[in-house]
Amino acid sequence: MAETKKIAVIAGDGIGPEVVGEAIKVIRKIEELYEYNFEFQHGLFGGIAIDEKGTPLPQETLEICQNADAVLLGAVGGPKWDNNSKELRPETGLLGIRKALGLFSNIRPATVFDCLKDASTLKPEVLEGTDLIVVRELTGGIYFGEKFRREGANGEEAVDTCVYNVQEIERIVRQAFEIAMTRSKRLASVDKANVLETSRLWREVVNRIAPEYPEVELEHVLVDNCAMQLLRRPSSFDVIVTENMFGDILSDEAAMLTGSIGMLSSASLGEGSFGLYEPVHGSAPDIAGQGISNPIATVLSVALMFRLTFGYADAAQAIEDAVKEVLDAGHRTGDIAVDKSKAIGTEAMGELIVNAIRKI
Ligand code: NAI
Ligand code: MG
Repeated sequence: MAETKKIAVIAGDGIGPEVVGEAIKVIRKIEELYEYNFEFQHGLFGGIAIDEKGTPLPQETLEICQNADAVLLGAVGGPKWDNNSKELRPETGLLGIRKALGLFSNIRPATVFDCLKDASTLKPEVLEGTDLIVVRELTGGIYFGEKFRREGANGEEAVDTCVYNVQEIERIVRQAFEIAMTRSKRLASVDKANVLETSRLWREVVNRIAPEYPEVELEHVLVDNCAMQLLRRPSSFDVIVTENMFGDILSDEAAMLTGSIGMLSSASLGEGSFGLYEPVHGSAPDIAGQGISNPIATVLSVALMFRLTFGYADAAQAIEDAVKEVLDAGHRTGDIAVDKSKAIGTEAMGELIVNAIRKI
């Protein structure tokens, strides 16, 4: 019997609890079919935690996360808390939890499901076979550098500084090589080494680490070129690793290859195998409580958790295959349905996926 893995569950606000509920059913089904065992610990987070505990990230929730092997997060936020002061906003809890858990990379897969090719604005033949992952550095770069205003020769100026140290680059680049090793062993490192000093250091570090992974085919791509190639030949990418701001932009661009936000999973990783897994979408207040949200982004985040944190590649594959099978059979939630009148609800989609999971 495999050791019991502890999963902290922080469902949050809006559609968070609905989609997380379906993901938990998926995990229970895996437990039934495989030797794996899971224990859930639930914590309040976001707006609901503000209402009940007076803070978006209560200490006990943080402790539940710190004592877990992985965290499953729904979504936070909503109009109810939008006018609160900064420390009483749900989104402040998101920044707080990432920092407190030492998460330094954000992983966003962009997988085009063949049967959903029409949902994208790109031509189906361009998208065919697209299955890539963007690995974005989260703690450094221009978003965290010194910022200030000053009086220049021609009036007011603003300054943002971009700083990266070798250690910050090394840890994320190693992680990207490791992820590439679990996939088709192709890594694109994206920088702007023709103009930026931080990018030149980035490239040096990548080239120094590359010989440790002789099986991985490495290419260096300039960020502007990468933005173009993502639209021209998305299927030629496997793992893309890049710094914070470039990753912010490229991961959103890559997300649009796939069509709906309701399908996009993500992971934020720290040292070791610990990770926080969540759908890319927010709390969708416009549809919350109606039982019509798409749970697939959260279900696929569980698959990512199984692969990256637990090393349960078989269970991860079983979940991804089940999602594909259900979509291929034509089942759709409203966000991905062409004929909205045939759309099914959150629970119906969850149940179809659970029933399609097989032991492989
Ligand atoms: P959103 O992602 O919540 O919604 C954008 C649009 O996509 C909406 O029309 C929504 O109905 C739809 N949508 C999102 N997820 C869906 C799903 N699973 N199934 C079907 N349709 C789905 O982004 P929005 O509206 O900008 O933000 C709403 C709230 O969520 C805000 O308070 C925002 O701050 C918060 N937010 C939280 C995030 C998080 O918890 N990580 C990330 C992004 C936003
Ligand atoms: Mg963004």
